[in-house]
Amino acid sequence: MKKIVVLVSGSGSNLQAIIDACQQHQINGQVVAVISNKAGVYALERASQANIPTHVISHHDYPSREIFDQAVATIIDTYHPDLIILAGYMRILTPDFVDHYAGKMLNIHPSLLPKYPGLHTHRRAIEAGDSEHGTTIHFVTQELDGGPIILQAKVPIFADDEEQDVIDRILVQEHQIYPLVIKWFCDNRLKMLNDAAYLDDKRIPASGYG
Ligand code: GAR
Repeated sequence: MKKIVVLVSGSGSNLQAIIDACQQHQINGQVVAVISNKAGVYALERASQANIPTHVISHHDYPSREIFDQAVATIIDTYHPDLIILAGYMRILTPDFVDHYAGKMLNIHPSLLPKYPGLHTHRRAIEAGDSEHGTTIHFVTQELDGGPIILQAKVPIFADDEEQDVIDRILVQEHQIYPLVIKWFCDNRLKMLNDAAYLDDKRIPASGYG
């Protein structure tokens, strides 16, 4: 059974989907700790309800991004995890942190990468007049939202959509595809090699599956 540490900054609905999938044995893994850079977020409550240890490490308490990331890594490493999951973790990661977890850290980003890296993706897609939007799961590399893509899910954008409509539509998809990709990883089917992602030793296309 793989040990999974989840990093969060917010509501944690993806965390919940992952916890549920582990508890229902859909994933051959266990969430062994949840770490948040923000106190009081609902993700921490979800973890506590599932009896998962939590840690709050506030970035405001550290003089630099590097020292903050070192503190986070120190806590993560006490759990000896097989997999680090970023689930709505809204921090830019330092190169040393990324390298330390190379090939074992996944992120979910709410856009059809390489479109719209960074923040406010849903708003940017609506303002651009896009008729579709989506979400992407990728291995984390030093390039922000730029690591090898594993799986994407698309949703339509309708003419009368508000930003929240699109956010909610995306989350429904995320709760399906993030547990699936984590299952692949925990079944030893998913790997990163030389900046490319592989499923069952077959190279995943640069645009990902889905
Ligand atoms: C998710 O939509 C995720 O894709 C996004 O934050 C949301 C977290 O929701 N992640 C990012 O924007 C990362 N750059 P949740 O806290 O309910 O899982």
